[in-house]
Amino acid sequence: MLMRDFIEDSLYNPHYGYFSKNVTIFSPGAPFDFNHIRDEPDFHRLLGERYTQFEDELDVAEYREDRQLWHTPTELFRPYYGEAIARYMVANYRLTLYPYHDLVIYELGAGNGTLMLNILDHVRRTDPDVYSRTKFRIIEVSSALATLQSHRLHATAASRGHAEKVEIINKSVFDWDLYVPDPCFFLAMEVFDNFAHDMIRHDPATEETLQCSVLIDAEGEFYEFYSRDLDPVAARFLRVRDAACQDRNYPHPIHNTPRFIRNIRHALPFAPNLTLPEYIPTRLMQFFSLLGTHFPAHRLITSDFHSLPQATKGYNAPVVQTRYQRRTVLVRTPLVQQGRLQRCVVGLFADPRES
Ligand SMILES: C[S@@+](CC[C@H](N)C(=O)[O-])C[C@H]1O[C@@H](n2cnc3c(N)ncnc32)[C@H](O)[C@@H]1O
Repeated sequence: MLMRDFIEDSLYNPHYGYFSKNVTIFSPGAPFDFNHIRDEPDFHRLLGERYTQFEDELDVAEYREDRQLWHTPTELFRPYYGEAIARYMVANYRLTLYPYHDLVIYELGAGNGTLMLNILDHVRRTDPDVYSRTKFRIIEVSSALATLQSHRLHATAASRGHAEKVEIINKSVFDWDLYVPDPCFFLAMEVFDNFAHDMIRHDPATEETLQCSVLIDAEGEFYEFYSRDLDPVAARFLRVRDAACQDRNYPHPIHNTPRFIRNIRHALPFAPNLTLPEYIPTRLMQFFSLLGTHFPAHRLITSDFHSLPQATKGYNAPVVQTRYQRRTVLVRTPLVQQGRLQRCVVGLFADPRES
């Protein structure tokens, strides 16, 4: 199978996938009192304490070595993070859409549902008129997280008040088939980095691009195969990138090195016959196509990693992790046993000139 299908299967397979298993997003309990935190190390010390406490409590209920635990800005900086986004949306909505349209918000991948609650609380408190015209729809692939979001929506009297505004749609965004002509805000916080990638390498002599497929033998060993025939999605990505970035101002295994240096390097004994791998965000491109065709009047609000320390070798390469005895263990390739892949995240908004 293609590398993106392998990663997608590891992440989303209903039986062993990262998002289908017991995904747990860290919640720090009461919001941090930021005005009384001295500096960043002080914040990290407090965060470490809350993290241990959170995991200890989970272990009392059920010990799981393979628990998928991660934290997001939504959780760390709640409720202020959600409030800042709400303030932006209401101001923008009042300026450009009010009173002709309702405030329609789609949230892709809502995790614990914290952003949804923080946004709705803020709109209700600060602008009751806009609140009365607000609709909030969540698109969530994980059934466990969709259930948690629904529980939190009914947990307190205050949150129950939002229930009639919220619809939780438990499906992958890639299975979305409804046409939504109305103007809407589309939130995607810390989701894109999880989408699957394809892997390509280049022939330094001919500059040709080869695409990686994964083969799994009867013993479960993984092998990479490279083909000069690109599948239509990868081929489209490269065409779109060429058209969009004609100055080729992005990190690339071949374009950024003068030809004569490349030739010398690859004429050396034992030089590899292909470049380092390059990871291309083919699933993200498909998402943008879907957003354009099915939500033609959307306004996208998104956040994601700017850079990733400890990524695997290659260009735009992911951080790949598994967990062992409550520790996160880095691995060097996405080709780990199905069901053991915990994360395969890629930084998306790095300034290419920095690399
Ligand atoms: C890292 S969590 C971020 C959660 C939340 N947005 C936050 O900021 O706390 C990623 C979320 O996206 C969801 N997700 C991942 N891929 C998805 C897909 N293809 N369709 C819908 N939801 C998806 C996950 O289940 C999870 O809820």
